[in-house]
Order: sequence, then C-alpha cells, then structure tokens
Amino acid sequence: MDFLEPRYIPMNRRRRIYEGKAKILYEGPEPGTLIQHFKDDATAFNNKKHQIVDGKGVLNNRISEYVFMHLNAMGIPTHFIRRLNMREQLIREVEIVPLEIVVRNVAAGSLSQRLGIEEGTVLPRSIIEFYYKSDELGDPMVSEEHITAFGWATPQEIDDMMALAIRVNDFLSGLFLGVGIRLVDFKMECGRLWEGDMMRIVVADEISPDSCRLWDIASNEKLDKDRFRRDMGGLVEAYQEVARRLGILVDNEPPANGGPRLVQ
Ligand code: TMP
Ligand code: ASP
Repeated sequence: MDFLEPRYIPMNRRRRIYEGKAKILYEGPEPGTLIQHFKDDATAFNNKKHQIVDGKGVLNNRISEYVFMHLNAMGIPTHFIRRLNMREQLIREVEIVPLEIVVRNVAAGSLSQRLGIEEGTVLPRSIIEFYYKSDELGDPMVSEEHITAFGWATPQEIDDMMALAIRVNDFLSGLFLGVGIRLVDFKMECGRLWEGDMMRIVVADEISPDSCRLWDIASNEKLDKDRFRRDMGGLVEAYQEVARRLGILVDNEPPANGGPRLVQ
C-alpha cells in the first residue's frame, strides 16, 4: 500500500482506459485526470522482442517524474500532475497526437542506419523527426506534408510541437550534461489539453531511459534501452545509474532483495 497517497483507489476497482507495451492508463480520481502506471515490460522492434525487467517500471516512474516536474517548473506545459506511488503518477487526460517526435543531437540508431552516418557523429544542428504511431505499420517516419494531409495535426500544432521539442531538448541536454551524460537523442509525445474552449499542446507520455539515448560522457557507455535492444545486459543497473546521478536514488545503499531503494 502506498503511504504517500491516502486517496489511492485499489487497482482492481479502477477502470482501465488503455494498456500499452510499457504502461497502463487508469481512470483518475477526478474528471480530466488519469493514472499512468509503469510496468516492468521491456519491448523493442515493435514488440518482436519482449522481456520483463524487474524494477524498470519503478525507475522510469521516478526518472520521468523528475524530468516532468522540472519541465512544469520551467513553464513547459506537460500532462504531469504528481507521482502517486512507486509505479504510478497522476496526469491530466489529453488527446494524444498520434506522432512520435524524435530529436537528435548525435547520430545513432535508425538515423545512422538510414543515412550511413557513423554512430557518435555530432550532428551539425539538432534534427527533429516525426513518426506516425502505428504498431501495425511499425511507426513509419512521416513528413509535415503527411501529417497535415492526413489530419494527424495542424500546421500550428506542428509548430507548437517543434517549439516544445526544442525547449525539452535544451533542458534535457543541460540536465544530463550536468551529471556527465550525453543526450544523444530522445522521443517525446504530445497531447491536446482542453481547458474549456481552449486547447493547447502539452508534453505527454514519459521521458525516461526507455525513450532517450544516454551515453556516459567519459566512457561512452550506454545508459539506456539500447542495452536491451542490443542484448548488452545490465539494463536496470544502467537506469539505476541515471537515477543515482540525478540524485533520485540513494547512493550507498546496496540494491538488496527488496529492489532499488528510493529516496523521497
Ligand atoms: P531510433 O534511432 O531507433 O529512430 O530512435 C530514436 C530515439 O527514439 C531513441 O532515443 C529511442 C527512441 N525511440 C522510442 O522511444 N520509441 C520507439 O519506438 C523508437 C523506434 C525509438
Ligand atoms: N518501444 C518500441 C517497441 O516496443 C521500439 C523501441 O523502443 O525500440 O517496439
């Protein structure tokens, strides 16, 4: 049971709104809110590779909370309200724009493969890409032409999402640089938040080592989901290292049988 949240609704009495690969969304305690639950499932390559990684959900919940709290504090609008417990956070209900927005600072992954650029090459400037969220199609890359022609977002919304993506990239790059980590690239999602007749685009979903490429500055060691995608092992240890450097995890505590010990 969670001692932080007295109004916690038992899991079996909640209405499940949506279950994704790594998270579940439940109905929230008030209209316009949802509960975002982080699972331990790790998937890659559109679910072809799937594994349960003990403790991953807890770490992503904490790391994503940390990032979203700071984004909110900087006036970058997000869906995040507050963390409820080890695996869950309270969020505002938004209409998810069916796009993944990828920002790249350093060549890696699909960019390196597609364009034959060696991984680790610093890009001449940050590059923003859009992918259409569709499991059946394997999240294909799309252009602004596709997005507006098919009505996934308006030109104004694309502008808003790009402006948000640049601010998030600047914030995250600085945050990680300060703890000796290079932000190679990351993926974010946006949602439409309705407030009466007004709608604005906010940052939604999660930002965690599942959705970023994070390399140790000194050693280039990977501290992100590529450890899973590339069968390198040590996924939880890498996420713990990210949490530890951000000051979320207690330093000198052995990760005993109870799993990672987290500070408040
Ligand atoms: P990519 O190089 O495979 O296109 O990935 C770019 C970034 O987006 C990387 O940080 C991982 C992240 N990402 C996701 O979060 N979800 C996905 O489904 C994919 C393909 C990438
Ligand atoms: N998350 C995606 C999937 O589950 C792919 C990835 O992150 O590589 O397929």
